[in-house]
Amino acid sequence: MTIRAVVRGVGHYLPERVVPNSEFEQRIDTTDEWIRARTGIEQRHFAAEGETTSDLGARAAAAALADAGMEPDALDALILATSTADLTFPSAATMIQSKIGMKSGFAFDVQAVCAGFVFALANANALITSGQARRVLVVGAETFSRILDFEDRTTCVLFGDGAGAVVLEAGDGTGTPADRGILATDLNSDGSYRDLLYVDGGVSTTGTAGHLRMQGNQVFRHAVEKLAATAHAALGKVGLSGEDVDWIVPHQANLRIIAATASRMQVPMDRVVVTVQDHGNTSAASIPLALSVGKARGQIKTGDLIVTEAIGGGLSWGSVVLRW
Ligand code: ACO
Repeated sequence: MTIRAVVRGVGHYLPERVVPNSEFEQRIDTTDEWIRARTGIEQRHFAAEGETTSDLGARAAAAALADAGMEPDALDALILATSTADLTFPSAATMIQSKIGMKSGFAFDVQAVCAGFVFALANANALITSGQARRVLVVGAETFSRILDFEDRTTCVLFGDGAGAVVLEAGDGTGTPADRGILATDLNSDGSYRDLLYVDGGVSTTGTAGHLRMQGNQVFRHAVEKLAATAHAALGKVGLSGEDVDWIVPHQANLRIIAATASRMQVPMDRVVVTVQDHGNTSAASIPLALSVGKARGQIKTGDLIVTEAIGGGLSWGSVVLRW
């Protein structure tokens, strides 16, 4: 018998304020046409003043628990993927734990920027398959609006705020790719690419939160190459290929990256969940948001084979293959 980490529930939360591309036209030298054509983004959500990452994460977490029909105290662990925690410490995961009324288990943050949710899922899978936890809530939540330089047109139009969450529970499998649950993971980092994508502040340097800096076209080049490679690597670990995939649920950074990756995997775009037009790049929140929206749209169904893939600052990138 094989223990599998099976998805029991999914949910998301988006802040109320919707920011269309046209709002940027009034502030910086850009156009709605440029943003749509180069990124696919039409709008994004920004958190209200005083609304924090743990607030967004707690709303998504509560929605995922409700979808799973599970009480907070049934959880053994809560993992939050974020790069925009409320405070330097304690972890925003413990704040979400408190906000949802979870009094048991343990909670911690994972920081792998836009690849954070994939890294968090892989950690949750390791906890469950090693028998250290039976039920793990995995949240991705971000308030990237707080680290954007609104004078820099090359970055500020790209990102949004939001949160998504999944509840994983140990289930019995047969050890074949027909099992429900996480089937394979593939994680990678290469810290020599630090300068391509970083925030120019931090506790032990400037003592400030800083602003996001990115050499977008360089990141783009790495994304197209590395995302298809990591997805193929994860699928290959269980003897699967692009042909077997029902849905790619990619990190939502740029429609051109999403399309190029799908093409390299030989998966048609009608089998890709795309939300970037509505949310922008919500970093570690983008994949759980897309999973939740994909399920709500009726795209993702029980038994579907799903590949998630993401790349972000580090560079860090990876993929998770799971059967819903
Ligand atoms: N409006 C108008 N023009 C713009 C804007 C804007 N908002 N931003 C840039 N431009 C201009 C540039 O200044 C440049 O002008 P120039 O030719 O006169 O110098 C021109 O558009 C082309 O710029 P590029 O950067 O080459 O444009 P590109 O086609 O690469 O698109 C983009 C830029 C959208 C950032 C793209 O490179 C991209 O999506 N990169 C990947 C981002 C990503 O995936 N990040 C993932 C992780 S994020 C994380 O981990 C936090």
